[in-house]
Amino acid sequence: MRSLTIPSVERIILIVEDSSQIRNVIARALMMEGYITHQAKNGIDGLKILQKVVPHLILSDVNMPEMDGIQFFQAVRKNPDWTAIPFIFLTSHSSSEDIQRGRELGVEDYLTKPIEPYDLVKIINARLYRTAAVEVAQVGQAYLDTVKVLANAIEGRDVYTRGHVERVTTYALWVANALNWPSQQMRMLEFGGRLHDIGKIFIPATVLNKPGRLTAEEWEMMKNHTITGAKMLQGIHHLHGTLPYVLYHHEKWDGSGYPKGLKEKEIPVQGRLLAIADVYDALTTARPYHKPRTHEEVIKILIKDTGSHFDPQLTPIFVDVINKRRAQAAAKKRE
Ligand SMILES: [Fe+2]
Repeated sequence: MRSLTIPSVERIILIVEDSSQIRNVIARALMMEGYITHQAKNGIDGLKILQKVVPHLILSDVNMPEMDGIQFFQAVRKNPDWTAIPFIFLTSHSSSEDIQRGRELGVEDYLTKPIEPYDLVKIINARLYRTAAVEVAQVGQAYLDTVKVLANAIEGRDVYTRGHVERVTTYALWVANALNWPSQQMRMLEFGGRLHDIGKIFIPATVLNKPGRLTAEEWEMMKNHTITGAKMLQGIHHLHGTLPYVLYHHEKWDGSGYPKGLKEKEIPVQGRLLAIADVYDALTTARPYHKPRTHEEVIKILIKDTGSHFDPQLTPIFVDVINKRRAQAAAKKRE
């Protein structure tokens, strides 16, 4: 019977084992699970197969003639195309010397023969799922790193906003967490919070860092960062969920914001949330046009502007969350 953990895509396993009998038993069990198998009788044969096919996992005996499992493992790991292939040693010796040697070389898993084919298949399934999960996490981390580079590129041009996007993202994540947003939405918030001002990359530094009042033309240029930012991101599939943050973080509850002048719940919740976090951080830090205000002063402003600038449902939650977090941080400091 095929187990419930069967991979949805056919996967290739390379079996390296000098006993044809054991090889066949393993191959049969794996094939019944939907795996494609390739068989080699020693390390040299194994390397020849690897020239033609890159398997998803290698299962190798340790003691074999001509090239043993340890030499084979070392040869596999020397080739950059093969270093990421999960490698499981299968040995009839439970000798601690063999295991010790394998561990020192970085072998991930060690199985001792005899092993039930059913157990072997379960272990291989689990190993491949773990590898897939790690790959997904690594790709996600790579996306986030790229987003951070982009965000740093904007902040590098604007001396006053250093650290702004990280803090805004953190505040918004605290609120989203309190509202139990699903993990996929949280993920987009991580990206959207960091990218919300990406369109500022097109604003000249003289305008961006101007201490005095902006001319009408400069103000138009400044407002346009929401639209240019969204244009930059709209074709990027995995960042599509960031668009509401980029486009709507300057909309206001009463419809007096930009770029579209949307009102109340016409404004996507992502924009309404980021608007509060963005203003809270802008007012509590120094800008060319104002000194930093205290937390208490800014909270008063947020409450005063609730219903005109800010969402009346979200603002009390934001205030509550940020007060609690500050109290927790202060308590931790006192410890
Ligand atoms: Fe902005």
